[in-house]
Amino acid sequence: MSTSTLDAVRPATTVNTAAAPRFDMYAWIHKALRAFMSDTLVRIGRLDVSDPADRDAGLAQLNELLDFCCDHIRHENDFIHTAIEARRPAGASRVAGEHVDHLDSIDALRSEAAGLAAAPAASAPALALRLYRHLALFVAENFEHMHVEETQHNAMLWEQYSDAELVALHDRLVASIPPAGQLLVARWMLPMLPPVDRALLVGDMKAGMPPEALLGVLTMVRPHLDAAGWRKLALAAGVAPGA
Ligand SMILES: [Fe+2]
Repeated sequence: MSTSTLDAVRPATTVNTAAAPRFDMYAWIHKALRAFMSDTLVRIGRLDVSDPADRDAGLAQLNELLDFCCDHIRHENDFIHTAIEARRPAGASRVAGEHVDHLDSIDALRSEAAGLAAAPAASAPALALRLYRHLALFVAENFEHMHVEETQHNAMLWEQYSDAELVALHDRLVASIPPAGQLLVARWMLPMLPPVDRALLVGDMKAGMPPEALLGVLTMVRPHLDAAGWRKLALAAGVAPGA
């Protein structure tokens, strides 16, 4: 993706419960994260440890998820928490503390995954089940954590900042993500949004990237959409659905 396209990976302004529409920088990326976590958990649950190709592919997805989680924590700490605490000292301390715990959990999960990859056949099923259960606890903790961010952190952001300031902050965050990271975000974000939000996102992408790059993104996400979803996305992107 081009640098200008980095700006495209931006959540829509959503409607909060106070009735005033505000810019919600958590909404779209957390949908992507919830989907990536859920898909990976299910995949680890059905891992065939007797098949090295299946085992290694599943563990590779897990490591990709854990890398994604580390990047996400860094983005939130560096950009969002810094902004919150600039105007509300210690306002992000609870969530920041949870991030420290999450990084410890990520290290433990990586270690269990490495142990499973090297395990003899006799112990592999038990290690896989242990990894699945620990990943489930990590996902559960993260689901609660993201809810706190989307409610309490958004409340502080909305109180302390204008939407224009929040959009600028989010643009700086997104611009810090390298192209490979942007593609991974698109993989897990675009299919997980309602069609109206997909259309907004793909419209911004189209404005900021060469047509062949946009086609590459669409080709990547197409297998993750149903037929109706693909038709709507193709229409929004201005490409032929049968292409
Ligand atoms: Fe977080």
